[in-house]
Amino acid sequence: MTPPSAIRRVGVLTGGGDCPGLNAVIRAVTKTAIRMHGIEVIGIEDGFLGLIENRTRPLTFKDVSGILTRGGTVLGSHNKANPSRYCVGHDGHGQPIFRDVTERCIDTCVRNRLDAIIVIGGDGTMACAAPLVRAGVNIIGVPKTIDNDLVGTEITFGFLTAVATATDALDRLHSTADSHHRVMVCEVMGRNAGWIALHSGVASGSDVILLPEIAFDLDVVSDYIRSRMRSGPGFAIVVVAEGAKPAGGHQIIARHDPTSPDPVRLGGIGHLVAQEIEKRTGAETRTTVLGHIQRGGPPIAADRILGTNFGYYALETLMKGGVGRMVVRENNLFTDVDLLFAAGKQRLVPPNHPLIEAARGIGTSFGDHVSSGSRGESAAVVV
Ligand code: F6P
Repeated sequence: MTPPSAIRRVGVLTGGGDCPGLNAVIRAVTKTAIRMHGIEVIGIEDGFLGLIENRTRPLTFKDVSGILTRGGTVLGSHNKANPSRYCVGHDGHGQPIFRDVTERCIDTCVRNRLDAIIVIGGDGTMACAAPLVRAGVNIIGVPKTIDNDLVGTEITFGFLTAVATATDALDRLHSTADSHHRVMVCEVMGRNAGWIALHSGVASGSDVILLPEIAFDLDVVSDYIRSRMRSGPGFAIVVVAEGAKPAGGHQIIARHDPTSPDPVRLGGIGHLVAQEIEKRTGAETRTTVLGHIQRGGPPIAADRILGTNFGYYALETLMKGGVGRMVVRENNLFTDVDLLFAAGKQRLVPPNHPLIEAARGIGTSFGDHVSSGSRGESAAVVV
């Protein structure tokens, strides 16, 4: 492993699904490396695919100037290229053939004289990085994802922008629901974690929030909506996480891609919930699936700041001698954890999370049998 004083060149790559704030991190890494430490930065294109295929380009001040506010990633990303299980083609039955191409990645590091790589990604990307760390490549991870589900950090960049986008959409659904006396169901992303649904649901004052972590009962949801339609304001907003499921039921899978490190793509629960609500309550119901809108567009100020902090701290961690670490924020402070500890795990919403308690306190339903605790407005009480 290269000692910090001998580090001359560092690679940077963005892996997995993109999110707002990636460019803020790339910019901070590049500027910190050049300004503070006089070391070169090599951008690796399209995540681990670029490392496998040796597609790299130098990053200078000029390359990162003006990118702070831009969505996406100037380096490109890829959510299928896993070096230790890389799809090299298909057999006669259409089944993917996988090979371990870790050596090709190490070869790219040698050819480009990379002393370390800053890997910006989610749990899947960290899991892809883990075998390289074990093989002796020094990787410093930066936690990215709109899902906010990385273990070891209280927040990932991209999450707050996705929440702002989803909240804006829910606000818009609010006014049209009111005009037409309808129920509006909005499906948001998040995989197996309900962070986006919980935060955007509370921020928009949604009436029902359905999370993967709390199995829901459609009778409870329908009773709640019926009472709002009858004696409440006459419309209702339901936010559903794509990973939510009814008690005794299962998640709805929209597609399956065996060549991806995370082969399952969730989606479709919003339509099912809307159909059932309409059938059971008679209230006219519409569905909106927000989808990739939550991943696109410029980062909000909080994510520009978080991305800048993470990028700077990643370089500082490396230059202080960090090896195989992931930078995190814990209790509002920046620190780092073992990347191998964080890789491939998911941080879910605890069902007793304070925000859930607060939402229940103001009468929000989570579609389960737990009372909202409200003693006042009967329309908001889940029975
Ligand atoms: O992990 C980010 C995320 O946007 C999830 O919320 C969603 O389930 C998934 O990626 C969608 O993946 P894809 O871009 O491959 O459709």
